[in-house]
Amino acid sequence: MIKTNWTRRTLLGTAAIMALCASAGAAQAGDLEVLHWWTSGGEAKAISELKDSMQAKGHKWKDFAVAGGAGDAAMTVLKSRVISGNAPTAAQIKGPLLQEWAREGTLSNIDDVAKAEHWDELLLPVISNIVKYQGHYIGVPVNVHRVNWLWVNPEVMRKAGVKPPTTWDEFFTVADTLKKAGVTPLAHGGQSWQDFTTFEAVVLGTGGPEFYRKALIQLDPASLKSPTMEKSLSTFRRLKAYTDRNAPGRDWNLATAMVMKGEAAMQIMGDWAKGEFLSAGKVAGKDFLCVPAPGTAKTYTFNVDSFAMFKVKGEANVQAQRDMAVAIMSPSFQESFNLAKGSIPVRKGVNLSKFDDCAKASATDFADAGKANTLLPSIAHGMAVSPSAEGAIKDVVSQFWNSEQITPAQAMDRLVAAAKSQ
Ligand code: GAL
Repeated sequence: MIKTNWTRRTLLGTAAIMALCASAGAAQAGDLEVLHWWTSGGEAKAISELKDSMQAKGHKWKDFAVAGGAGDAAMTVLKSRVISGNAPTAAQIKGPLLQEWAREGTLSNIDDVAKAEHWDELLLPVISNIVKYQGHYIGVPVNVHRVNWLWVNPEVMRKAGVKPPTTWDEFFTVADTLKKAGVTPLAHGGQSWQDFTTFEAVVLGTGGPEFYRKALIQLDPASLKSPTMEKSLSTFRRLKAYTDRNAPGRDWNLATAMVMKGEAAMQIMGDWAKGEFLSAGKVAGKDFLCVPAPGTAKTYTFNVDSFAMFKVKGEANVQAQRDMAVAIMSPSFQESFNLAKGSIPVRKGVNLSKFDDCAKASATDFADAGKANTLLPSIAHGMAVSPSAEGAIKDVVSQFWNSEQITPAQAMDRLVAAAKSQ
């Protein structure tokens, strides 16, 4: 009798454990279809960190990569997928665009994860505000990229007897010398988002942080049409003569490769470019230098990548989303991901000892710019204004870059009109 009872209890216990395991197993095996545009060398390495950590948790990773710098193509594909009722599990969505998706009612509220993981304490408000909609978390921030960098090949500069420029006037003197030496001074990819990335650096370096704020964040018409904007536009246009003939259409990472190979001396680009240098085995401070874009020292244009979760069915899939959110904010992921991506950790308390001097400078400058009120959202990378205003302004900037027929005065009128698409 005793034996029977014992056997029964053992059997019940085993059944309970098996049931538990089954449910845990089901919860672990979620499907994660993740939309992103990280396809260059450094980017791919960074996203594989996330894939590995999700697969280690037992989830099925379905990579949904849509190539194209800055994600323009990815965002178009995302729209059509959601409209056809086939949203991915998670997607890389940033800045004010997150708010638009949240307003559509398609994103999951992830407050419970955020609360359990203390995100409010780990994130600065300047970051948590980006990933909250009406006070609720609807996105997971991944990193902080600095956009206003100039990437430099030190060997090319040394051979030509010049130093990295710190102002736009210096830039043109240095660039003339480089051109005479037979080197392309500025590596550029003629795609509208790259034109826009260069333009915002020129505006910041020409007008300073207050002017940038008024013109490109507040979209103040009197600043968009002003002598300082006119000077910014003329300076921007002057740069074109220092790029090469094959620039139109070139991908940003191929422009970075030109600097790496010594075919070009400099590139204006966010620090995802550093991810490229690193994935090619280059060493910061030796094979390449990072300096603030001309005239922009002590300021910081930021670009925060983030993932949003779409409303999905099935507990396992919801659990997979939660696991992804927790993993992204964990110190170990913040370290491994950002080491590959070129950015810095988005949360407080991550040890930077494994990071290079560019990342350390970025972290110090981010903190200092925050205190000095010179920390500015990048308009070219979807941080500053509504997506419609951003798109319209970006078009004006690219048209101006591509057509000598458009005068700075005409471009300014168009900028003022475009800003109204807000
Ligand atoms: C940015 C994005 C970066 C990087 C870059 C080039 O907009 O935030 O993470 O991927 O585009 O694709």
